[in-house]
Amino acid sequence: MNILLLGSGGREHAIAAKLVQSRHCDKLYIAPGNAGTAAMGENVALNPEDFEAVGRFVIEHNVEMLVVGPEAPLVAGIADHFANTPALARVMVIGPQKQGAKLEGSKDYAKAFMQRHKIPTARYQTFTADTLAEGQAFLETLQAPYVLKADGLAAGKGVLIEPDLATAKAHLAEMLHGQFGSASASVVIEEYLSGIELSVFVLTDGSHYLLLPSAKDYKRIGEGDTGLNTGGMGSVSPVPFADKEFMKKVEDRIVKPTVRGLRDEKIDYRGFIFIGLMNCGGDPYVIEYNVRMGDPETESVFPRLKSDVVELFEHTAEGTLNECSLNVDPRTAACVMMVAGGYPEKYEKGKVITLGEEIDDVQLFHCGTRRADDGQLLTNGGRVICATAMAQTLPEALLKSYYRVATVAWDGQYHRRDIGQDLLKLMI
Ligand code: AMP
Ligand code: GLY
Repeated sequence: MNILLLGSGGREHAIAAKLVQSRHCDKLYIAPGNAGTAAMGENVALNPEDFEAVGRFVIEHNVEMLVVGPEAPLVAGIADHFANTPALARVMVIGPQKQGAKLEGSKDYAKAFMQRHKIPTARYQTFTADTLAEGQAFLETLQAPYVLKADGLAAGKGVLIEPDLATAKAHLAEMLHGQFGSASASVVIEEYLSGIELSVFVLTDGSHYLLLPSAKDYKRIGEGDTGLNTGGMGSVSPVPFADKEFMKKVEDRIVKPTVRGLRDEKIDYRGFIFIGLMNCGGDPYVIEYNVRMGDPETESVFPRLKSDVVELFEHTAEGTLNECSLNVDPRTAACVMMVAGGYPEKYEKGKVITLGEEIDDVQLFHCGTRRADDGQLLTNGGRVICATAMAQTLPEALLKSYYRVATVAWDGQYHRRDIGQDLLKLMI
């Protein structure tokens, strides 16, 4: 079949690499893609949020499966558009409809969903400009640090963790008065959870599910988890502390009630659920839901999938995921992200990239790259390229990944040198 994958990051390059391995994939289109996805299929200059244009392309090119990488088109209702347009309703869409996508699109909705289904999460309340005084009073009942979350999508910047009460109160007022535009018209205030974070990925058809490999990502720009938040500076899969016992708790207390909750609320959900968790002394708590795969978690999770991903997606779309099982490579994958100098603040694009030599068991996934007319590879974003290595152990995977990273160069290239170090420490 012909498949259209929406998105342009490292996540999409890693998904594309698996889609083209499938015997069911005839032609893969990626919109808009990057220089890496261009080697996997045909990049198409479409805006994933222009549903009419995406729909026209799908009809003209006889696309049978639409895989949605990022959250924005899902939150805006691309799956609904396909389901409700007669000429598109036959297309298998991987990604939930608008109602399901609210699990990521509205933090307040997600928290209320967790509360309804008794899913462990931090205690919270939601406030608007009209209830600012009540919000400030609620802050007084909590202990430092204070967690403030813009209700809507804020490009990953809408969560503030405040060390003291006065700053938390001041920032609550700023958020409610439009700091993140309409995304912070409502603000969730919640208890701070202390522990180690982990990302759990579920593929569900709305009734059945498969648990994909877990991963850990590294969000801060600086070594030792310091400095500003980024899209993610590296990832590792599996996560050593996510052992059988811990994952059983995750499945029983979180995954099962989440999928059951979606079904009981008659929410048509066919796609990924990415659960951001905190391991608090051996007990998992949900920090957030996302309705897509993570980036750069996908770059360490997808290389480990040995099952035919297109078959999994077909069963997801048809509601028969119970007929599938997952075949996972037991090796460890470690992904190190290389970014533009200055990222996540101001940075330049258009730097010439040299890729160095390929080595066995290491893949480069492109994030922000493009090919110039003369064929040169150029930087085209903050996160530029990542290297994922597979090996029997985490130390070996990290060693190989860093060996590869050392050969990739452009003016201003930066990467963290401590990806996976916290996990190594737990292992020693
Ligand atoms: P989110 O966008 O909800 O994933 O939040 C961004 C980051 O803020 C998370 O990855 C956590 O590191 C942190 N965070 C969010 N909520 C909490 C919480 N309740 N307690 C501690 N850290 C949190
Ligand atoms: N790596 C975190 C995310 O994709 O949201």
